[in-house]
Amino acid sequence: MSGINYSEKIPNNVNLANDRTLQRALEHWQPKFIDWWKGMGPSDFQGSEAYLRTAVSVNADGWARYGAVKMPDYRWGIFLADPVAERRIGFGDLMGQPAWQQVPGEYRSTLRRLIVTQGDTEPASVEQQRLLGHSCPSLYDLRNLFQVNVEEGRHLWAMVYLLHAYFGRDGREEAEELLARHSGDADKPRILSTFNEPISDWLSFYCFTYFTDRDGKYQLKSLAESGFDPLSRTCRFMLTEEAHHMFVGETGIGRVVRRTLEVMKALGTDDPSAIRRAGAVDLPLLQKYLNFWCSSSLDLFGNEISSNAAANFANGLKGRPDESQYADHVLREATLKLATPEGDQEAPMLNALNEVMRESYLKDCEIGLKRWNRVIERAGHGALALALPSAHFRRSIGSWVGHPVDPQGRILPREQYDRRLYDWIPSEADRAFVRSLMQRVVEPGRMAGWVAPPDRGINNLPLEHEYVRFQ
Ligand SMILES: [Fe+2]
Ligand SMILES: [Fe+2]
Repeated sequence: MSGINYSEKIPNNVNLANDRTLQRALEHWQPKFIDWWKGMGPSDFQGSEAYLRTAVSVNADGWARYGAVKMPDYRWGIFLADPVAERRIGFGDLMGQPAWQQVPGEYRSTLRRLIVTQGDTEPASVEQQRLLGHSCPSLYDLRNLFQVNVEEGRHLWAMVYLLHAYFGRDGREEAEELLARHSGDADKPRILSTFNEPISDWLSFYCFTYFTDRDGKYQLKSLAESGFDPLSRTCRFMLTEEAHHMFVGETGIGRVVRRTLEVMKALGTDDPSAIRRAGAVDLPLLQKYLNFWCSSSLDLFGNEISSNAAANFANGLKGRPDESQYADHVLREATLKLATPEGDQEAPMLNALNEVMRESYLKDCEIGLKRWNRVIERAGHGALALALPSAHFRRSIGSWVGHPVDPQGRILPREQYDRRLYDWIPSEADRAFVRSLMQRVVEPGRMAGWVAPPDRGINNLPLEHEYVRFQ
């Protein structure tokens, strides 16, 4: 196991002390990161103590320690999963060759772009969520928000380390740019559009952590396969933290469902307006939020047909999530049937890898849906079961862009689609209603009226624990 040196300015398990130039460069970036955190991170809570976990090793059974910490004092560090002895490239045309410990010159700019694109999403989500703390439904939730935020900050560190350590001056410049772009900024927005959508309510936050952090999981899984070994090791450890983010989303939505069912039972009705008057989220409204965030996150996988995806795979830069589960790792002969607006098309598998990823992502998304629907069915409301929207609904990238497809995947006359769009995604009135529910609750153990309590507290502490202490 690799321990982490906490006596250093930047906790790390990469022997930073042995590379003075790199250490100095990162120590130079560190105060800029802290400035960014103070300016763009959770607004107004910098003096509060939150009960947070901090990575202290990459050991599977004890990698984190828990304790109350002021966020600007959080020990953001650089941790790579332990190396795999004699690791080899596991896919593509170079399959079987030794994994690279340095960046191969011919793939330098592509690898840099992959790392920058991933790195950009990490601070972006912190920026998107910076005002949420003011309307938290409980201290438990507030703590989870901050936990997600500090770990996204650490994920930024993970990518900045790679840029500094392996990409010279270009890498250092990219690291500066990662702090200069901002979510939703008119002049310098974040790279991917989903990461420029503001997250101004907690229902959106739960959906974001369910759908968008899960996209992150799939991107990290595919980069964890990379032939560039430092990238693979970084991503493997990031995945350990990422699991909690999706837990926040899945249990968050599950708690909304449970609370809504309680209200329906108490009122003896499933009438949405009665449920809304009682201060809860009716299930059709929740469905609209799922439709919005799922479709928006699906765009992150890119075009169905992509020569970049083909090249990245063939060159061993980016594999499929869980590459080892497949039989064919070269894919020069394979094809995939793609549904397009013009009918089914056969495409070379190599070019259709974004779609392969999107399909396995959607399967993973179904797991939460099944859990929530079991609860809904048990309460006797099976007719209100939730569903994922069709992957062709509301796409802004790929062959389905601009096609009037409903969430069930039916192609509609344009006029009907336009008229009905806000039956499927939140209207301004829906959003205003959700915002009206967002009243801050900060008494230890208490929950806002629109969400049920979680099954248990954090790290075996009671739910009543004071997870955040305000200063
Ligand atoms: Fe992340
Ligand atoms: Fe995340």
